[in-house]
Amino acid sequence: MCGIVGYIGSKEAFPILIKGLKRLEYRGYDSAGVALLNNKGELNVYKTKGKVKSLEAYCNHKDTTGTIGIAHTRWATHGEPNDKNAHPHYSQSESIALIHNGIIENYLSIKKLLIREGYTFKSDTDTEVLVQAIEYIKSRYDLSLFDAVKRTLKFVIGAYAIGVIEKNNPNCIIAARKGSPLIIGIGEGEFFLGSDATPIIEYTSDVVYLNDEEVVKLERGKKIEVNNLNDEAVHHDIITIKLELCDIEKAGYPHFMLKEIFEQSRSLAMCMNGRLNMELKEIKLSGIINHIDKFRDAKRIIITACGTSWHAGLIGKYLFEEFCRIPVDIEVASEFRYRDPVINKGDILIPISQSGETADTLAAMDLAKSQGAFIYGICNVVGSSIARGTDSGTYTHAGPEIGVASTKAFTTQVTVLIMMAVSIGRELGTLCESRYKQIVGELSNITTKIEETFMLASEIERISSVFTYARNFMYLGRGYNYPVALEGALKLKEISYIHAEGYPAAEMKHGPIALIDEEMPIVVVSPKLKIYDKVVSNVQEIKARKGKIIAIVTKGDVDIKKMADFCIEIPDTEECLTPLLTVIPLQFLSYYIARIKGRDVDQPRNLAKSVTVE
Ligand code: AGP
Ligand code: GLU
Repeated sequence: MCGIVGYIGSKEAFPILIKGLKRLEYRGYDSAGVALLNNKGELNVYKTKGKVKSLEAYCNHKDTTGTIGIAHTRWATHGEPNDKNAHPHYSQSESIALIHNGIIENYLSIKKLLIREGYTFKSDTDTEVLVQAIEYIKSRYDLSLFDAVKRTLKFVIGAYAIGVIEKNNPNCIIAARKGSPLIIGIGEGEFFLGSDATPIIEYTSDVVYLNDEEVVKLERGKKIEVNNLNDEAVHHDIITIKLELCDIEKAGYPHFMLKEIFEQSRSLAMCMNGRLNMELKEIKLSGIINHIDKFRDAKRIIITACGTSWHAGLIGKYLFEEFCRIPVDIEVASEFRYRDPVINKGDILIPISQSGETADTLAAMDLAKSQGAFIYGICNVVGSSIARGTDSGTYTHAGPEIGVASTKAFTTQVTVLIMMAVSIGRELGTLCESRYKQIVGELSNITTKIEETFMLASEIERISSVFTYARNFMYLGRGYNYPVALEGALKLKEISYIHAEGYPAAEMKHGPIALIDEEMPIVVVSPKLKIYDKVVSNVQEIKARKGKIIAIVTKGDVDIKKMADFCIEIPDTEECLTPLLTVIPLQFLSYYIARIKGRDVDQPRNLAKSVTVE
């Protein structure tokens, strides 16, 4: 959600900023803008509704010179997505420009105060209040920009990552964060700002992650200077990130989503690398080894997440209860954080997040932490806010996920949950050794089986072309594949804009069955399961009402195959591992339907990759 880029150094800033914004496009946005300080001492702000390409076109024939600048892609929270609300925002005298990701919650009271002081506002945003307040405080107390930003942020309530530049100060960018992501890149005589590392890694892999309520001064020829809001200096080690440029480029695929679907065998291999010993059939997760006592003593595990990560969490519940016999609550983070949940000392909270920046998941984690829960995180983005806020955890190592629709993040999250559940179960004695070895042995083969499911792509493309007429889809699954049904439905609605719902298959007769007619496509996720026969009955019920059945079954299936209109066969595996295979045809299905319908697959409307606001 929203992208921030900044540059100060000896190169022309504009091309670096535009390229950086393009790299951040995947996060989702509705308008874009840039502020540049040229060597005549002019502070130019250009901004437009729409894509970064439109901003580039708008800037044609404009003065885009300057070796210092800030740029932004906005995901509107306060005020329509239009030119005037796009960032950067000028201060009243137009001598300061600011970009912001987040929400200033007390903006109205600050705005009233500033209006009384004679300030006028050009936009409907909460952000403009911030830049005006900085200017007001700066002139009223005769402060430097650095000090004025710190003083202003002291009375700001809400979430922010900001970048600020000033007309009379061509040698420095001020930036700060609280609750929204921001990374500082440190090059040779140059500094970068980024919402994540993607706009930075082309130039440097040395970065600093700011903590909440820290403000940084990036000054030409000087070392990075970080203060907290009480003006105290804070030391940060420079961290070297391991991210390659090829990880964030499309590598010949038409969309990042397709590339990421096909990457899943590799990302699962990376996820298991160094953790799963194929010869010994053993898993070693350092986070679990170091904290096994916490799991041994836990009366309860609470898993919290949003969207796709929540679906992975639901699979986690099934896994932990089956293999560890520990009760698990699975909570949507936005609900959990506000409903005064009962958290007991000794509870373990597992936040799951691809980005590690999802505002609701972060807040749910902080709440549980403040009430004494032990936090064991599952994150993809190394150094992200959630990852840094946990007591321990396991990274998924899926590599950067750029497509808004999550694919490889999901399968690696499920893989981590499987590895955790069987490791803990073995330690606790709730999972016997032979079963443990069986599952681990099967997990060692899973990447080969995932590659087999890739072969289904063209068949699913053909099936997809049959269903582009549909306005509704239903997805059904049971046991480990119920969350997969939810995930398949979410994928379809996100990128094709077709309404889709996922249900536990047996719930169908409690309501949704009323929707079934000869037009209604129903995706039944029914590999070989303990309760396969029950699903067969559900399929019969659909058939009797002439619904169109697309079934995901295990190779060699007989019963469902007879009834389904289309049958997609996946390799046989352990039941608890089936989600890793059944979800792949569903990812393809949503991808091809969206593509045939001409949708913007990687950046679907209204969505953001990482939802850093509530
Ligand atoms: C997945 O396709 C979605 N775009 C969305 O539901 C996502 O999973 C959710 O916003 C959570 O994100 P996170 O994993 O980065 O916390
Ligand atoms: N709340 C700000 C706005 O609506 C910032 C939105 C964002 O994070 O992009 O302009």
